[in-house]
Amino acid sequence: MPATVIVGLQWGDEGKGKTTDFLAEQVAVVVRYQGGDNAGHTVVVGDETVKLQLCPSGVLYPHITSVIGNGVVVNPATLIRELDMLMARGVDVSKVRVSRSAHVIMPYHVALDKGNETRLADAKVGTTGRGIGPTYGDRAWRLGLRMEDLVDEPTLRERITRSLVDKNLLLAAMGVDTFEVEPLVAQGLAWGERLRPHLDDSTWIVQDALRRGDHVLLEGAQGTLLDLDHGSYPFVTSSNPVAGGACTGGGIGPLQVDEVIGVMKAYSTRVGSGPFPTELFDEVGKGIAERGREFGTVTGRPRRVGWFDTVPLRYAVAVNSNSAIVLNKLDILSGIETIKVCVAYEIDGKRVDVWPSSGAALSRATPIYEDFPGWEEPIHNVRSLADLPENARRYVTALEEHAAVPIVFVSVGSERTQTIERAWRPMRHRSGLGA
Ligand code: GDP
Ligand code: IMO
Ligand code: MG
Repeated sequence: MPATVIVGLQWGDEGKGKTTDFLAEQVAVVVRYQGGDNAGHTVVVGDETVKLQLCPSGVLYPHITSVIGNGVVVNPATLIRELDMLMARGVDVSKVRVSRSAHVIMPYHVALDKGNETRLADAKVGTTGRGIGPTYGDRAWRLGLRMEDLVDEPTLRERITRSLVDKNLLLAAMGVDTFEVEPLVAQGLAWGERLRPHLDDSTWIVQDALRRGDHVLLEGAQGTLLDLDHGSYPFVTSSNPVAGGACTGGGIGPLQVDEVIGVMKAYSTRVGSGPFPTELFDEVGKGIAERGREFGTVTGRPRRVGWFDTVPLRYAVAVNSNSAIVLNKLDILSGIETIKVCVAYEIDGKRVDVWPSSGAALSRATPIYEDFPGWEEPIHNVRSLADLPENARRYVTALEEHAAVPIVFVSVGSERTQTIERAWRPMRHRSGLGA
């Protein structure tokens, strides 16, 4: 009963979409376990680029059952648009299953998210404005709507009526438009009607697949450093992207996970506010941003760019219990004379090797760098580690040593096949699969 978790090791946008799509060919079920349409996962197959916000990145394969798990917050309007986009491209979406227990992002959640950010002014988190925080907040406060409520008119009306009283008070205090019950009920029911064929009990889909011996892939959104518990609070998202989130949000137990693959890119990026010790403000950073096309998939905002940081890497590998790592976007570093890697911080005059749990301490951290000689040539067409320039190989080895976990794939381009496979035991050949 093998299950593999794919988790971002940095601040999101590590290339989880590409990695999931690449591995999905070998599995039966792919599950998204947290986050919502704040995520933007890019899959490139041949000349086609598909940007996914809610459907797991295995959805392009006809054999995959794609599951949106109970831990996800679903904006039904985004999901319907995404299903329409996929159908227009000829993708069969009949196997997209949506957990009945997943929470619904309502228009008032979006308004509250944006209104709160405006109110925070300089202290804003820089959210994607998708209503993620208020929806998870309502879930914890037991005031939320679940997908199953969209096909149950009396419950829907009752829960919206109860919830709207306080929401409207808050929205009015923020100076933004308030909402009325009946238009929201009508909207919710229309969404429910459209999505009804996709609603399911996602936990049993996953459990039945594992019992049959099918391989299940669980795809995280965001990344470890944006985790509500493990990131630099409050500059985080409102869910748990870490591997443990795959259990609570994907319907599996810890002992059912047999591999945790961490995804990272060869440098760092961050969207939104918050400490970022290795951030670059010079021409080298600009060059990486341009070559790496570092603009947010969801909001189009420029991503902040910096050198690779091994301090949070060691933390991420620990809290996720990674068994393997995928290194993406190595090609973007071609042409840089000297590549820097942060190996520790200096905080208040002292050398610090461990990721500080305090956001305040982190914002005072100065990186201590190790220099690596770069390489000139483009590497998009390289398909084996031996054919990489020697300095690129050295760089990969150094990151691997810091992680103390094998790097099993190195990606050298956005297209599905631009991948170097290394030290990898294909999933279909693992014991227990019977294949
Ligand atoms: P995700 O949110 O983790 O799925 O990552 P995004 O899709 O938001 O951002 C990663 C971007 O890098 C996408 O545009 C990918 O197509 C692209 N990408 C992924 N791997 C590579 C790679 O090895 N090289 C290059 N040049 N681009 C890559
Ligand atoms: P993927 O899955 C990068 C960031 C936002 C903001 C913080 C909180 O594509 O890697 P939220 O809207 O979640 O309340 O915003 O989290 N953020 C992401 N940054 N990639 C993402 O997703 C992100 N999803 C949220 O920029 O700093
Ligand atoms: Mg992304």
